Amino acid sequence: MNPLAIIEKFYTAGTKPYQVLVEHSRIVTEKSLEIARHLTHLNPDLEFIEKAAMLHDIGIFLTQAQAIGCTGEKPYICHGYLGKKLLDEHGLPPEYGLVCERHTGAGITKENILLNNIPLPQRDMVPISIEEKIICAADKYHSKNPKYADKKITTIQIIDELGKISKDHAKRFSMWAEEFNL
Ligand SMILES: [Fe+2]
Repeated sequence: MNPLAIIEKFYTAGTKPYQVLVEHSRIVTEKSLEIARHLTHLNPDLEFIEKAAMLHDIGIFLTQAQAIGCTGEKPYICHGYLGKKLLDEHGLPPEYGLVCERHTGAGITKENILLNNIPLPQRDMVPISIEEKIICAADKYHSKNPKYADKKITTIQIIDELGKISKDHAKRFSMWAEEFNL
C-alpha cells in the first residue's frame, strides 16, 4: 500500500491542501517513528506507523480550514472521523481509519462530545493501541497552519494548549509524554 497514491486520489498534487497535507504528514511520520524507535519494549509496528501516520489527516479536504486551503463543508474537528470513512471505503484494514478518527486533540471521549455538543458522532475517539497513541502524540508537535509551520512546539506548550480545550486532553497527553519520554 502506497499512502501517497491514496492521498493523490483525493488531492491534486501542487495544490495548497496537497502541499500542506503531505509536508505535515511527512513530519508527523518522522516524529512518530522517532518516538516508536525508543519504545521497543512496547513493540510498536513501525511499518504500520509509517503508512498510517502519512494518512492520519487525509480527511482535511472535507472540512473548512481557509488557512490551509480546505473548502469542505464540515467543521475542521470532523477531519478525523471523515478520514476514517474514506479509508474504510477505500478497503484499508480498519486500523488505518482508527488512527484518523482517534488522533484529534489527545483523543476525544464520548462524554466530552456530549457535554460540549461537539459536532461528532457520539462515540469514544480516544487512542487505544500503542501506534494510535504514538501518532496522536507526534501530531501535536507540528502545526499545519503556515503561521506556525516553522515554530518548534514543546511538550509544555502542547500540554498548555490542550488544557485550554479540556483538562482531560492535557491529562491524557501528559501521561503519554511521561510514558514516551517526550
Ligand atoms: Fe495531523
